[in-house]
Amino acid sequence: MSLKHLFEILLFSPFAHALASPPPNRRTPILPFSTKGRDILDSNGDIFHFKATNWPGHQEIMIPEGLQHASIASIVAWIPELGLNSVRLTYATEMIDDVYSNSPNQTLEKSVLNALGAENGTVVLGQILDNNPEFTKETTRLEVWDAVAQELANRNIIIHLDNHVSKAFWCCADNDGNGWFGERFFDVEKWIRGWSFISGHAKDNWPTFASVGLRNELRASNASEPVDWYTWYVHMTAAADAVHDAAPDALIVFSGLSYDTYIDPIPLGKSLNGTAGTATANKTALFVPSEFAWAEKIVLEIHKYDFEATQKSCSVFKADWYKQGFQAVNASDPATKYTFPMVISEWGFIQNGTYWNQTTYNTCLIEMVRDYQVGWMHWELSGSFYLQTRPGRVPSTIQGLEEFWGLLNYTWDGLRDPVTLENSLNKLIAALDSS
Ligand SMILES: *[C@@H]1O[C@H](CO)[C@@H](O)[C@H](O)[C@H]1NC(C)=O
Ligand SMILES: *[C@@H]1O[C@H](CO)[C@@H](O)[C@H](O)[C@H]1NC(C)=O
Ligand SMILES: *[C@@H]1O[C@H](CO)[C@@H](O)[C@H](O)[C@H]1NC(C)=O
Ligand SMILES: *[C@@H]1O[C@H](CO)[C@@H](O)[C@H](O)[C@H]1NC(C)=O
Ligand SMILES: *[C@@H]1O[C@H](CO)[C@@H](O)[C@H](O)[C@H]1NC(C)=O
Ligand SMILES: *[C@@H]1O[C@H](CO)[C@@H](O)[C@H](O)[C@H]1NC(C)=O
Ligand SMILES: *[C@@H]1O[C@H](CO)[C@@H](O)[C@H](O)[C@H]1NC(C)=O
Ligand SMILES: *[C@@H]1O[C@H](CO)[C@@H](O)[C@H](O)[C@H]1NC(C)=O
Ligand SMILES: *[C@@H]1O[C@H](CO)[C@@H](O)[C@H](O)[C@H]1NC(C)=O
Repeated sequence: MSLKHLFEILLFSPFAHALASPPPNRRTPILPFSTKGRDILDSNGDIFHFKATNWPGHQEIMIPEGLQHASIASIVAWIPELGLNSVRLTYATEMIDDVYSNSPNQTLEKSVLNALGAENGTVVLGQILDNNPEFTKETTRLEVWDAVAQELANRNIIIHLDNHVSKAFWCCADNDGNGWFGERFFDVEKWIRGWSFISGHAKDNWPTFASVGLRNELRASNASEPVDWYTWYVHMTAAADAVHDAAPDALIVFSGLSYDTYIDPIPLGKSLNGTAGTATANKTALFVPSEFAWAEKIVLEIHKYDFEATQKSCSVFKADWYKQGFQAVNASDPATKYTFPMVISEWGFIQNGTYWNQTTYNTCLIEMVRDYQVGWMHWELSGSFYLQTRPGRVPSTIQGLEEFWGLLNYTWDGLRDPVTLENSLNKLIAALDSS
């Protein structure tokens, strides 16, 4: 934890005792985690809050971003330096499909060259190997992931593993093939098979592996399967079974619909309905936690961005957002049928020194976390990408694209914008630490 961050906490803590004794959540959490009511508990019974950043590894090359600029150790070191205790690593099912088919494309050399072309790929591969001399061009993607996970463990950073896409490229858009069960790239069997493999692998090899996000940002699509909560129930519970069989200690995080912007039917215990005129017509299911083997592992996740450049007052912002699923953490709301822990698994905005103060999003998000005491995962650590393919943009593929939302700068060796950090990330940390 940086001195600057410590200063922030002391400055913003309303409780004098914070000066005398360190808050209990400063201790390294002990795995496994479980849930009790609205809380995630560590193995000592202390409440754990995710204070995480996203580190994507789901794009074309299918290894965590940034290794052409820096070593794994130096990237991982930023996470505790920023005052964070965990990371959301995102992967593509395609990576696991390649494991099952024993594909020769899994080597670093093939992964990089297939994605970037022979000319630029050779340069970038050389940079990755220069920065990370423990690898060779024959090192496989999974071996890279294992090295990342080991270094995270060396730093006591908790790993949350997120299935972000099926086909490996930037997420997310309507009809991009990755959005809904049965869509062009989203093969449900391969997704579940992938979870069986990777959650077992993580359990056996990644010491700080704690939790999974079953699927990122489910959304409308022209898939053959109807987009409804009944279909959600069928597939999400099947994937949860697969994870729990392979890694019984892992928390299982469930995302909602419409790009994971709402999940209230689950805490409200609503009937999960099919769609008239489709294969799920008249079908219903109930998500009753006590019926599942993984009853004490369920966490809900929700995303919140500021695409509308909100100027809502925080009371309105919070009341509107509450209805999207925060009933889960409010046992005294009579509409809440089941309580669950919640995590804001994506939030973020451009790190340019002024945006944090241009809309009310940042302030209201901080208030939300303070009021409801839920963990969060900032989008994102990356200062740049190996490449990014984004359907609909011209050109759709850009190599070496800068990520202006990233905590790190383009070369992954410095912070992008200390002013934004002080006013957003640091205050979100304080919102949990000072409670
Ligand atoms: C390996 O990648 C190349 C280039 O993308 C592709 O044409 C080929 O089908 C892949 N091979 C396998 C076994 O997946
Ligand atoms: C709809 O799905 C089909 C097949 O899954 C795909 O080929 C087509 O491009 C999709 N349409 C749109 C608008 O994305
Ligand atoms: C499912 O249908 C029932 C009966 O119409 C309704 O009360 C319930 O709210 C619906 N569930 C959802 C998630 O909309
Ligand atoms: C769904 O229920 C309605 C009303 O009971 C009925 O008319 C219809 O045939 C049912 N549809 C299917 C596919 O079972
Ligand atoms: C929880 O629900 C109760 C009852 O609806 C409500 O009065 C209270 O404001 C809610 N708490 C929060 C923090 O929203
Ligand atoms: C930061 O980004 C916002 C939104 O794009 C823009 O309005 C603002 O001018 C930017 N600030 C700076 C200093 O560039
Ligand atoms: C921007 O900062 C000023 C000064 O602290 C504050 O008065 C104003 O409310 C902030 N604006 C927003 C949208 O947060
Ligand atoms: C290859 O890299 C160069 C220099 O970074 C860049 O200008 C060019 O666009 C890249 N080629 C492709 C196909 O993206
Ligand atoms: C990133 O920050 C480091 C440390 O301040 C600096 O040396 C480097 O030049 C920066 N990179 C860019 C692209 O600004």
